[in-house]
Amino acid sequence: MDKLLISGPCILKGEVAISSAKNATLPILCASILSPHAIHFDSLPELADVKTITKILQSLGVASSTEKNITTFDASNITSQHADYSLVKTMRASVLVLGPLLARFKTASVSLPGGCAIGARPVDIHLLGMEKLGAKIEIENGYIKASTEGLKGAHIVLPFPSVGATENIMMAAVLAEGTTVLENAAREPEIDDLADFLIAQGAKISGHGTSTITIQGIQLAEIKPLSSPYRVIGDRIEAATFIIAALMTGGDVVVKGFNPVHLSFVLDILKEMNAKLEIGNDFVHVKPSKNLKGAQIETAPFPGFPTDVQAQMMALMSIVDGGSVVTESIFENRFMHVPEMARMGTKIALKASSAFIEGVKELSAAPVMCTDLRASAALVLCSLVANGESEIQRVYHLDRGYEKIDEKLTNLGATIKRVKG
Ligand code: UD1
Repeated sequence: MDKLLISGPCILKGEVAISSAKNATLPILCASILSPHAIHFDSLPELADVKTITKILQSLGVASSTEKNITTFDASNITSQHADYSLVKTMRASVLVLGPLLARFKTASVSLPGGCAIGARPVDIHLLGMEKLGAKIEIENGYIKASTEGLKGAHIVLPFPSVGATENIMMAAVLAEGTTVLENAAREPEIDDLADFLIAQGAKISGHGTSTITIQGIQLAEIKPLSSPYRVIGDRIEAATFIIAALMTGGDVVVKGFNPVHLSFVLDILKEMNAKLEIGNDFVHVKPSKNLKGAQIETAPFPGFPTDVQAQMMALMSIVDGGSVVTESIFENRFMHVPEMARMGTKIALKASSAFIEGVKELSAAPVMCTDLRASAALVLCSLVANGESEIQRVYHLDRGYEKIDEKLTNLGATIKRVKG
């Protein structure tokens, strides 16, 4: 298992280019199942999760190849509708093949993804949506067995604006007969990108980005080839991580290649904390900021504060003046970074779903262990400012969602060594 050795403290300076968003890439690659044409992608992020979804798609018979920065997925010859446990268990987003398989082939057998470190994360809302569209669903031997004589548009009200369920239902509804109206839909920018990707191929979707999405079903023959390679949006979570890294180190960094509107809530909170930010159309320039102070946040579905930035924000709050309060409302067990960060000297008390943080003047390096993707990012952030050499273990969590993070931080002036294991 690889580990990172990070020597702090450092001051980050320069420019960093943000990669395409993991959370948009995964559903978009699953959506390629809906097309009988080859689809080309420009600069997919090199991430472990993207490799996993590629393996799952290949196991269904989707052909995939990469030449330079263009990756092609061709689902014209799908031979299987079975997504196996051995692949699905490693990544929850794998369940996003369900909607497209069912819509195009009227049958799908997809392993239940199971729980994960940050919470139970059931898929009941995904299944409710498929049933409303006319699918018969059975759970057998750990698999979702879904079949239909043909999906039919429906009026679906989600009990919670689940990101994955919105995506799965939207993809299924593209090839359903008639109109689907999805209410209380999630509004995350990654869902917008998925809708734009489908619309570019002829899908009839409107209202994405609001809580009511309307999808008018079309026939498979109406799906058109894309006129040029698709470029997925920049990763707002990666961008937030680098912005926070710059602030924590008192650095001067231009974070470019994403849409700052996708991070409005986070940027507003950072400004409240005294961060000096210049916000452009596709960049944020973090200027050296002094006297950063605490804040109070609660995670919420978009456009609220993203749960995927909660751990990184807590890393920042750990070293600013005064106290902060963070309430996690999306996942039930997403404070696993807290005991690891405490090993570096942070002062955080947990009570139910809230964390009470007291800023400290200094952190000290320590060996720490990654527990999940964003918790790992928080540990990297702390180690950038901690005195001495920290050893970050189980870096594979980080590699799931951050493309070349060690290289990008090194280019900004951090001292990081990856030890292959
Ligand atoms: C997506 C993101 C993830 C992010 C999360 C919330 C991807 C690949 N992952 O995950 O990084 O943290 O959104 O912004 O895009 N729930 C149910 N039943 C369901 C579905 C969800 O109870 O059928 C619950 C989950 O357990 C969780 C909450 O709803 O507590 C949010 O989940 P959801 O919005 O579905 O997140 P994901 O799509 O899994």
